[in-house]
Amino acid sequence: MIKKKIVLAYSGGLDTSVIIKWLQEQNFEVITFTADIGQGDEIKIAKERAKKLNVKNIFIKNLKNEFIKNYVFPYLRSSFLYENFYLLGTAIARPLISKEIMKIAYYTNSNYVAHGATGKGNDQIRFELGFKYFNSNIKVIAPWRIWDLNSRNKLLDFCIKNNIKINKKTKKYSIDKNLFHNSYEGGELDNLLFEAEENMWENTLSNEISIDYPIYLSITFKNGDPIKINNNFYNNENLFLKLNKIGSICGIGRIDIIENRYIGIKSRGCYESPGATIIMFSRKHLESFVLDKEIFFFKESLSIKYTNLVYNGYWWSPERILIQNIINNIQKYLNGIIKIKIYKGCITIVNRYSFNSLYDKKNSSFDEISKKFEQIDSQGFININSLRLII
Ligand code: ARG
Repeated sequence: MIKKKIVLAYSGGLDTSVIIKWLQEQNFEVITFTADIGQGDEIKIAKERAKKLNVKNIFIKNLKNEFIKNYVFPYLRSSFLYENFYLLGTAIARPLISKEIMKIAYYTNSNYVAHGATGKGNDQIRFELGFKYFNSNIKVIAPWRIWDLNSRNKLLDFCIKNNIKINKKTKKYSIDKNLFHNSYEGGELDNLLFEAEENMWENTLSNEISIDYPIYLSITFKNGDPIKINNNFYNNENLFLKLNKIGSICGIGRIDIIENRYIGIKSRGCYESPGATIIMFSRKHLESFVLDKEIFFFKESLSIKYTNLVYNGYWWSPERILIQNIINNIQKYLNGIIKIKIYKGCITIVNRYSFNSLYDKKNSSFDEISKKFEQIDSQGFININSLRLII
């Protein structure tokens, strides 16, 4: 019987390695695609594992620059976090992976694609909305929703039976890594009374052992995106590597949160995004003095919608793109240098400079007189605004 071709979004981890074997048992010719978006050693491991599992077509693509340029930076320009905390590090990677998977499906003449996301999470939605956007005829196999290996323990047994080697930590948590963040879910974290153990965190030092002197950093933004650190230019990848390193040794960017998944389940996730946290902090401070007040509030009101769209998997939707265009349009004001101090898990502002600054010292200062502003005018301002309250 002729085998059907299927392109699998392959991370090299426990779930997707099992999926290779499982799909092969269902008579598929499995083609793997691994997006290199900065997950380090995992790429090499994925390649070796796919080979061991008899995959003939193994695609690996370096997408680090594209990830930062076309997904990370556009998102960061919103300066907004999902449900107050989450920097969307997984949500912004999925649309890129779906796009690349669909390219491979096209080039290899595959009618099927597969992913390792569970039926309980957001990633299945993100992947599949992307697949459908690029080719609505593609057939999607999501093994987690249909197989009987429906627990981590059953998966581990399957691995032992089929000689698939899995490292210790992957056994403990569901981990997703890229240049922007690491995320940890599942295992002991499912118990809300359990404090995340220190050796779970891979990308940040705890405050207890982080370096005990402050680090000063100047971040230069051009049209909303960071381009320099301490007056040196960095390309996208190196900028993140550098900021991740500094943030990491200073214990920056760890969170442990409960979030609302799109399908209505609450879940606990631990995230570490040292570099992204530094950029987000600096960007917010830049916005505060270069953006017009009403533009700022308008952007804020759109950003709530924007982050929900990104989280829920609507990266390719017309409304996300519309809001993105508005957000992008505002970035022309976001030029300047933000100097910060990083110490023991905290970032504080040292000073700020921008030639787009709207701050007017003469207006603001209690010690100076401005020609543009008369204090006596405030009396009328209050009189008129209080009228409603008086009536
Ligand atoms: N809860 C986060 C999100 O929905 C992270 C998901 C991480 N995915 C994973 N396979 N561990 O964006």
